[in-house]
Amino acid sequence: MLGRTGEGDETRMLSQRRPSGGSGEAGAARPSGTGDAHPSGTGDAHPSGEAGAAHPSGTGAAHPSGEAGAARPSGGSGTLARELFDGLPARYDLLAEVLSFGQNRRWRRAMVSGLLGLDRAPARILDVATGTAGVALMLAERSGATVAGLDITEQMLRRGKEQVARRGKASRINLVAGRAEQLPFPDHCFDALTFTYLLRYVDDPAATLRELSRVVRPGGAVANLEFAVPANPVWRLSWNGYTRLVLPTAGFLTGGPEWAAVGRFLGPSISEHYRRYPIDWTVDAWREAGIEDVRVRRMSLGGGLIMWGRKGNG
Ligand SMILES: C[S@@+](CC[C@H](N)C(=O)[O-])C[C@H]1O[C@@H](n2cnc3c(N)ncnc32)[C@H](O)[C@@H]1O
Repeated sequence: MLGRTGEGDETRMLSQRRPSGGSGEAGAARPSGTGDAHPSGTGDAHPSGEAGAAHPSGTGAAHPSGEAGAARPSGGSGTLARELFDGLPARYDLLAEVLSFGQNRRWRRAMVSGLLGLDRAPARILDVATGTAGVALMLAERSGATVAGLDITEQMLRRGKEQVARRGKASRINLVAGRAEQLPFPDHCFDALTFTYLLRYVDDPAATLRELSRVVRPGGAVANLEFAVPANPVWRLSWNGYTRLVLPTAGFLTGGPEWAAVGRFLGPSISEHYRRYPIDWTVDAWREAGIEDVRVRRMSLGGGLIMWGRKGNG
């Protein structure tokens, strides 16, 4: 199902698996909830975010191109993410909006609305790659849930904690350091889960998706926000110009060398991610992680991508 949902946005309901080797349009349905087994959680952490022992992460799924283990340009094991984000927190929230022309906030709102449409009253939500807690704050403000936010970069979390305190949400939001690949939480302990701008930083997106799915209860809602490459050639050309030329310069002018580095990194990172892991591949990976009724919505002429689904019973 394909339908327009607003200016430059479109939504696709992908409740059926595409035929293998196909174009990605709906094909024959397959049983849902057939996600690969994940190691049962041995983590002692409380779902509120009181971190305990981590458990072994899932085994890696085959790479879509068959190049399992090939080096990713963005580096692995969180090193690049920490290097990249360590110097950003002070201006992160402002520049994330300025450099995206306010689209980041709009995308977050759409993601959270979709999540709360799937579960109107979640009691516990996990926000993975929470950064400075922008999404965690939105979740706490728009629902009655307690929210755990997890991120690999301590400096981002520090800034997040300040914001949470300033907005009076410290009793509802708990931020913890950790890796998306090895969540310090037991199985099925969250009613809903969000993750934003994460999968470009992990070595094995399929295994990470299985790990994220592991901590969501059956029937729980999952939502993701990520950048994307516009499909329309005209918008893609503009997007290439913006990400390759404008963003590095604008990053430098507004945020100095750290933001110039982000500006240089972002466009190639997004392009390379989708070359390796196209959207249809990602939809299949969600399903293989046990997440059903996967929906995809392209935002802002294709520069943003939101996905939602519901954890199956399998
Ligand atoms: C672009 S920021 C997004 C932050 C926040 N989600 C937002 O929307 O503002 C990406 C975040 O992902 C975090 N990150 C990257 N790799 C991670 C991993 N393997 N586990 C947890 N967090 C990770 C980074 O530290 C960074 O804070």
